[in-house]
Amino acid sequence: MNPHNIVVAFNQDLFEKLFPAKYKLIPNLNDLYELELAFYEQQILSDSALVRNGAYFASVGGKFTRHFLICTGKSLKLPEHSSSRLKSFFEKNFFRTGYGTHGLFPYRGKFHPQMIKGLMNIMGLKPGDTVLDPMMGSGTVLVEASLMGIRSIGMDASPFCRFMTQTKLDALTMSLNRARNALNNYEEVFDYFAKRVGKPVVGIKIRGKKTPNGAMSVMEPAAEYVTKADRTQLTKKQKETSDTYNFLLLAYLDSVGYSERSSRKPPIEQFKAILERYLFVAEKIQKVLNGTQLVVSQARAMEADARDIPLESKTVDGIIFSPPYSFAIDYLDNDAFHLNYLGVETESLRNSMIGLRGKKLSEKFELYQEDMERVLSECARVLRPERICTIIVGTNNNQLGKALGVNPEEVKGIHEILIQMGEKHGLKLIKMMSRPITGISNTMRLEYILMLQRN
Ligand SMILES: C[S@@+](CC[C@H](N)C(=O)[O-])C[C@H]1O[C@@H](n2cnc3c(N)ncnc32)[C@H](O)[C@@H]1O
Repeated sequence: MNPHNIVVAFNQDLFEKLFPAKYKLIPNLNDLYELELAFYEQQILSDSALVRNGAYFASVGGKFTRHFLICTGKSLKLPEHSSSRLKSFFEKNFFRTGYGTHGLFPYRGKFHPQMIKGLMNIMGLKPGDTVLDPMMGSGTVLVEASLMGIRSIGMDASPFCRFMTQTKLDALTMSLNRARNALNNYEEVFDYFAKRVGKPVVGIKIRGKKTPNGAMSVMEPAAEYVTKADRTQLTKKQKETSDTYNFLLLAYLDSVGYSERSSRKPPIEQFKAILERYLFVAEKIQKVLNGTQLVVSQARAMEADARDIPLESKTVDGIIFSPPYSFAIDYLDNDAFHLNYLGVETESLRNSMIGLRGKKLSEKFELYQEDMERVLSECARVLRPERICTIIVGTNNNQLGKALGVNPEEVKGIHEILIQMGEKHGLKLIKMMSRPITGISNTMRLEYILMLQRN
């Protein structure tokens, strides 16, 4: 080995080979799929579009990108008693997940918002276009699109998802004065929500409404609006009250979820810490939005079934979604408390939840495929020609093998099944990427990003 060759090799900077020197990547870009997305972003977007909407660059030609400005500053405020594992997770993922209002609720199976931003860019979505997520979950696509000037429509079969998404969207612009005031009276607020449904335990029933005294009395009328799908008829003042009510309720439901998983702190202390964090993230993003004069674009969150999308044909410019993975997460069991709180009868919802229909695992899998075929045919119908539908799906052949009673090596991965289905409906695979799943705990190891183009 000639030592000279080593020096010659080291003198060629890999990143400069990929990107001319004026493009500076964001810190903590550690995964190969991120480098790949950064590379396509730089190939597809103009410099000014990169500064406005790029996901993986800190600066271009010395000009900071909006993503960098949105993400910098103090990282997500976690309560003192949080475990060091959780703290380091958020530090490491600061540019990926810890910004905007994405951190408002820890929904299982949530997208990395930064990846969604990168994908929307390389799908050719521009400000003014419309993107659809037919299974929005916690609304990552809608929140991200709102910050990029892209219009968005999201739907989910679960009313809790609609509530959560709407609250995260509203938190980008709502007045935070009343929520701040509520934090000063957190015991009273906690008590109000706890009394509305009883003690924070799973499976409780909604009790009759009680008129509260003190800080929450002004909020009481808003309780009526919580599950209302159409809020366009509210006056400005009613909307402000409703936004605050929902913000506080989401924090309350979040604290109950935490208390179920960990007994480190009593629920009321969790509530205080969570509300502090909610206020911190909402204030932070609102400050950046004001500072960069960024106008949040229109987003519509609906309670609807992805197998029967309530949109006209050829009306959306892009679709991104992640289907439920039946064997990994039972979203209804997970959200039982929250759904009950909103007065939703979970067992009747089960029939419209993809992946949960059927009894035996093999039957569940059959029905899952049937449902997903309907979803793909609906996606193909509403997508404009030549536009792209991106599906992000985890595959776990071991569990699937068990369900079907065959060897895991013989199992066709869900991603392959979806590619075939898409093809049948005029959606052709043009790009496939994969990424390791690095969440705190997860049963799936690899996730595929499938980009299908409408013919
Ligand atoms: C993997 S999660 C999506 C998570 C989302 N990408 C996020 O960032 O939070 C899948 C979602 O599909 C929803 N879902 C299940 N069946 C559905 C149906 N028939 N129509 C619409 N959504 C459905 C579930 O409620 C769940 O929220």
